Amino acid sequence: MVLWVRGALPGGRRDSRITTTSCQGWGFDQRFLVREPEIVHTFMNVKKTIGTSTSFWKRAEAAGLGQLTATAARGPFLVSADDGREFLNMSSFSYLGLESHPAIVEAAAETVVKVGSLNTSTSRMRAVFEVLRDTEEMLSDLFRVEVLTTTSCAAAAWQTLPLVASGALTEGDPPLMVFDKNAHFCLNAMKPSVADETRLLTIPHNDLNALEELCKTHRNLVYVADSVYSTGGCAPVRQLLELQDRYGLFLLFDEAHGLSSCGARGRGLVLDTMGEINDRTIVITSLNKGFAASGGAMFVGRRGDSARRELFLYGSGPLMWSQRINTAGLGAVQASAEIHRSSELDDLQRRLRENINHFDALVPSENRHDGLPIRFVSVGDVERTIGIAQRLFQEGCYVAPLFFPVIARGRSGLRVMLRADMDRADITRFSGLLREFTATPDAGAAEVR
Ligand SMILES: Cc1ncc(COP(=O)(O)O)c(C=O)c1O
Repeated sequence: MVLWVRGALPGGRRDSRITTTSCQGWGFDQRFLVREPEIVHTFMNVKKTIGTSTSFWKRAEAAGLGQLTATAARGPFLVSADDGREFLNMSSFSYLGLESHPAIVEAAAETVVKVGSLNTSTSRMRAVFEVLRDTEEMLSDLFRVEVLTTTSCAAAAWQTLPLVASGALTEGDPPLMVFDKNAHFCLNAMKPSVADETRLLTIPHNDLNALEELCKTHRNLVYVADSVYSTGGCAPVRQLLELQDRYGLFLLFDEAHGLSSCGARGRGLVLDTMGEINDRTIVITSLNKGFAASGGAMFVGRRGDSARRELFLYGSGPLMWSQRINTAGLGAVQASAEIHRSSELDDLQRRLRENINHFDALVPSENRHDGLPIRFVSVGDVERTIGIAQRLFQEGCYVAPLFFPVIARGRSGLRVMLRADMDRADITRFSGLLREFTATPDAGAAEVR
């Protein structure tokens, strides 16, 4: 066995890697012996990822498409800090255009001033401001589920996945965790922790047959997926719920892009399809995309399910530490929740749908006509993708070029995101330029800034 020995060793060595045979007879304290973990990179390989992705990011930055700095937002436009120029942001997560809504901005400022500080700077297990409790009540009423908030959707993944993997939500029996191949990075990043609790598998994207085969042979199975994928498309939620009915499948969804943009009161794709949440479904989400406030949230169970709430609170993870949505963010969440309760939300969702349909009528793309605000326009080649994005930016339209590992190798392209507050004329102009540049063979000749 290979061991890592901490502290001083006979012969003056310190902190060494040794084998059990080489240390026999040394007689030092066995508590210093730690079995050396095998480094296998089964789920993550950060060094390799840095190696592949850094050159793409730098290439985009050199073409003037990265590390942009803005002084302000004006609806769907950002004001460049470099030259004061306004550019249309076609890669905004704020699908309803709410992030500069006066009610949200004012509530953020008023709440922090009213409470007089940003945070209690104490674990939420010990003391929180009243505004946190009120905000979670408000969100729970709005979405008709038991809601816990946290600093981000990524923190919600951290809080949720190891807990589910431990079997705490499946009668103490650790389930087989099955991840969709395209599940978001924040879910995949938890795989090492999940694998420390139970077995896990990754299956091809949206492969219902593979999932059903597993359901037939495993009584206790959790499927982990995005509801709306950040690179376009969505999970087959209705069919997944049918598998849940048939086999008792447990579902864990990341609803970061579906909240606000989909469903009555912006409840998202999953709750909109389900009606009411059940005990075998958990949803995590971001409150900083369509919801346009701050932080993340977990839909942990039925409204009023205090046992579930406690389980998540005591489940060990980011909820226990010092950060949570600060008072400014909580003010913003409450104001956004008010808008979600009003007819303004229906109006914004209708305008978003009109803009999506208008874009779909002008530009062919994967998942066209699915009614969701994210479109991926495939280009294929990295240089050509950058070239097209650069020409669009010169025309005042920013659109994010996507490369490996965000998107599969050889599938580079542009991610277009629609918003409710975009003008039809701006979408028409952008679509025309996009069609023209994607049809031009030499669009790949991007200049380096
Ligand atoms: C599907 C998905 N989940 C989670 C996140 C992370 O959300 P947050 O920034 O709230 O952690 C993102 C992107 O930002 C995402 O695209």
